[in-house]
Amino acid sequence: MYGVIRNLLFRLPPEQAHNVALNGLDLAHRLGVLSAFSPKIDALPVNVMGLDFPNPVGLAAGLDKNADHLDALGALGFGFIEVGTVTPLAQPGNPKPRMFRLPEHQAIINRMGFNNEGLDHLLARVDNRRYSGVLGINVGKNKDTPNDQSESDYRKGISAVYTRADYITVNVSSPNTPGLRDLQFGDSLKGLLEAIKDEQLKCEKQHGRYVPVAVKIAPDMDDDGIRFVASALRETGLDGVIATNTTISRDAVAGHAHADEAGGLSGAPVREASLRVIKGLYAELGESLPIIGVGGITDGESAAEKVRAGAKLVQVYTGFIYRGPELIKEAVEAIRQVK
Ligand SMILES: Cc1cc2nc3c(=O)[nH]c(=O)nc-3n(C[C@H](O)[C@H](O)[C@H](O)COP(=O)(O)O)c2cc1C
Repeated sequence: MYGVIRNLLFRLPPEQAHNVALNGLDLAHRLGVLSAFSPKIDALPVNVMGLDFPNPVGLAAGLDKNADHLDALGALGFGFIEVGTVTPLAQPGNPKPRMFRLPEHQAIINRMGFNNEGLDHLLARVDNRRYSGVLGINVGKNKDTPNDQSESDYRKGISAVYTRADYITVNVSSPNTPGLRDLQFGDSLKGLLEAIKDEQLKCEKQHGRYVPVAVKIAPDMDDDGIRFVASALRETGLDGVIATNTTISRDAVAGHAHADEAGGLSGAPVREASLRVIKGLYAELGESLPIIGVGGITDGESAAEKVRAGAKLVQVYTGFIYRGPELIKEAVEAIRQVK
């Protein structure tokens, strides 16, 4: 069924297809016919970061940036949903076109640039949701905020979403906000993680509830970089790491008509790089800090290998665009075999 819908959607430009698909999903949900598209998924409960997940396969950030489609997405069987990236203020993102399909590679290149309606909009949507599953909220910084003031944007994001999120993700790895990924290294990272921890503890004190915070990192990191991130996470006492975001490498798609488009590459071509980062993090962190694996999951095996490498949860985005809800079930079943 999804194959037929996908073939129609893929006749539209990618961003338009994205919007049509999500609006269609909302409509199907309102009409009560969404179950026709959603496979029945048997529970595979897991407790990570102190939270109970019905299964370990979640939706990655960026698909529902504004939390506009939470109820419909939540009816598809995901074990959790991460909305955002949300920035303190609304911003338009980069000029269009800014999303490109590479079907031969089961891949997407995007340079959306954190187009989103801002914190107020997202919070209103979250407050009106019916979805009762695990909700992650991914926060970032506005493009116009200089890097040396990024701390303030992350603090604003954390404190605003704190009472609504089950967990919070701090995104320092999008390639589409100039300079953002510099925050993953050296003193910038340490300083930022300390500020994030400080904000989290302040919010805990204020609201009497501890909400875990995870940091999302890029796949384009050498072994020293991975070790450094791991030790900074351990030292600051953050709660998890999401590996990975999209890659700036084009090695795997060289020669493709869209290969030279600026932005982050996702889907099958990022699978190996994400796995390498997960393995490197697990070698440093072991069971002390949970890893959420994301990047290039297009079938059961690509999900299971992340769990074998040490990930406790996984997320999908590009594979979900190509495969639809069937991928969730396939990934859950493959992970069930790992345990
Ligand atoms: C169009 C698009 C937009 C994205 N937007 C975000 C975002 O706003 N925040 C974020 O943390 N990751 C974002 N991502 C990255 C995904 O969450 C994911 O980390 C990455 O695509 C690798 O997973 P995949 O291969 O399953 O797509 C985006 C990815 C795509 C394809």
